[in-house]
Amino acid sequence: MRIIMLGAPGAGKGTQAKKIADKYQLPHISTGDIFRANIKNETEIGLKAKEYMDKGLLVPDQVVVDLVADRLLNDDCKKGYILDGFPRTTPQAIALDEAVESIDYAINIEVPDSEILNRMSGRRVCLSCGATYHIESNPTKEEGTCDVCGSEVVQRDDDQEETVIKRLSVYHEQTQPLIDYYSEKGIVVNVDGTKIMDDVTEDIIKILGA
Ligand code: AP5
Ligand code: ZN
Repeated sequence: MRIIMLGAPGAGKGTQAKKIADKYQLPHISTGDIFRANIKNETEIGLKAKEYMDKGLLVPDQVVVDLVADRLLNDDCKKGYILDGFPRTTPQAIALDEAVESIDYAINIEVPDSEILNRMSGRRVCLSCGATYHIESNPTKEEGTCDVCGSEVVQRDDDQEETVIKRLSVYHEQTQPLIDYYSEKGIVVNVDGTKIMDDVTEDIIKILGA
């Protein structure tokens, strides 16, 4: 099963992609996580990506396309995968079409902009293992410490309010058109992302089948 997660920054793509990946035993490929790991390790790609991410802008298409194309060659992708945060522009979607046979589902998680700012200000992430929390809706068991690996959880650099506002406008301009792109292929399913996390997961499982 090949799945794309669509939705605004903070809609819950990463949260749901992790749960779905666990349930269906599929690799979860998050371009944002890959860039953050590269930034942490101070790689060349990380240093380049950081310039854009800190401003709330998208990393240039060719950098992302090469990275994903490379990742999709891994053996673990043979049985399918969940793409989270990719594609994000029409040229990225076209490149994906050229690289793979077909995508089965584009799951579009819908959350209004008004709720996004609250979600982002309360989000905390573990930069060691990628786990995501929220200080109100999904807190760590012990304050400031990742439940999974015990590392410190922090606020993402790009979760400052003014950067979130920029990311939202970039989303509406460059990524939202992909909903039409995939609707024309008949594979978009809209999911109400304002429900509590487990209910959103249940709705997605109903679509994908148990
Ligand atoms: P990326 O990491 O992909 O960020 P994003 O798309 O902006 O999405 P987020 O990770 O912010 O949100 P999410 O939808 O995964 O929400 P989450 O589950 O965390 O990209 C970051 C940057 O990298 C980009 O700006 C760009 O520069 C670059 N980049 C990445 N991919 C790229 C590409 N393809 N092309 C070019 N550049 C690229 O949830 C958010 C919060 O809400 C969490 O705290 C969570 O706990 C909480 N939450 C989740 N669900 C619920 C719920 N149902 N109810 C209440 N709270 C909830
Ligand atoms: Zn962790």
